[in-house]
Amino acid sequence: KVIPLILSGGAGTRLWPLSRASKPKQFLCLGTRRSLFQETVLRCRAAIFDERPIVVGADPHRFLIAEDLLEIGVGADILLEPVARNSCAAIAAGCLAALKRDPDAMVLALAADHHIPDAMAFCDAVAMAVPEALSRYIVTFGVKPDQPSTAYGYILAGTPIVEAFTIGHFIEKPPREMASACVAAGYLWNSGNFLFRAAHFLTELKRLRPDILECVGKAVDRAERDLDFLRLDRSAFAKTAAISVDHAVMEKTNRAAVLPVSYRWSDVGSWGSLADVIEKDARGNATIGDVSILGGSNNLVHSQGRLTALVGMDDTVVVTTPDAVLVAGKAHCEAVKDLVAAFKQGG
Ligand code: GDD
Ligand code: MG
Repeated sequence: KVIPLILSGGAGTRLWPLSRASKPKQFLCLGTRRSLFQETVLRCRAAIFDERPIVVGADPHRFLIAEDLLEIGVGADILLEPVARNSCAAIAAGCLAALKRDPDAMVLALAADHHIPDAMAFCDAVAMAVPEALSRYIVTFGVKPDQPSTAYGYILAGTPIVEAFTIGHFIEKPPREMASACVAAGYLWNSGNFLFRAAHFLTELKRLRPDILECVGKAVDRAERDLDFLRLDRSAFAKTAAISVDHAVMEKTNRAAVLPVSYRWSDVGSWGSLADVIEKDARGNATIGDVSILGGSNNLVHSQGRLTALVGMDDTVVVTTPDAVLVAGKAHCEAVKDLVAAFKQGG
């Protein structure tokens, strides 16, 4: 059985002011009844999956994680990070926990904040990738790009294996010009989910970044149980290098594969990409909450706890929460993360 390893420590700053440090994107319901985190957990309930996922998340979010799981009636092993050390360390910790359950554990590392409406197609793809993962590949799921985004990893398929291909080239978040060249050359987007045998991933990590494995290993060995949570040891984990799995492993390993997939996928990274996945009216306006729009098109309006009205506006994002209002041009949504960074610096 495949153990879902859910990475739930991201900040999601581009979805400010709804996504906050105290309640980041994965715990939000973005036009859906369930949070993205809950949707992710529920997507992995098919027969091929172990029914007890492993969740790796930030200590301050432990009750958000526990309550979300309780609400959908799923029990999980929850590893808590005392400080954020990016996805490589989180996956390493999850793999070590999986190995304690089963030395042959097969793991699907999953982003907690993606929108994949067709759960069945997703599960079929995972099942299809199992033979590759068994033959010691780290399998990625490649999505056909529709624009030269600089927010994704790009994958060039190499030679055929069984259902998938070896990875000829993996490049994480290339600059715009290179992203355009990648799209033209038939690269796929890395959809941010990885299937592998836990032992194999750790072998690759030991070869490429022994320092990370050593620190995370200590943090897991010295972890303390607290209710349902396993708290990673602070001093060991804090010494771990903060780097993404894409930079630390995927760009460097030659034991990776890509399975091209055609299901709908979005990482709902920004307000613009949220507008792409929710239903729109005849004029292309997407609304969530108590919203009224008069004579305008192509807007995204998200209103929380108040009536928000737009008159004669086009291509605009308006997000209102009880304590903040964002008004942005739809073409500039990615820059919201710079705004949040400036707030943090007191700008
Ligand atoms: N537990 C934990 N701790 N989880 C983390 C941490 C951390 O310190 N940092 C990130 N994550 C989680 C996020 O919550 C998310 O679910 C996943 O790891 C990926 O991290 P992101 O920060 O969202 O990465 P990204 O979107 O910039 O890039 C990744 O995903 C893209 C697809 O959405 C890369 O894998 C790209 O190559 C890929 O194209
Ligand atoms: Mg992401």
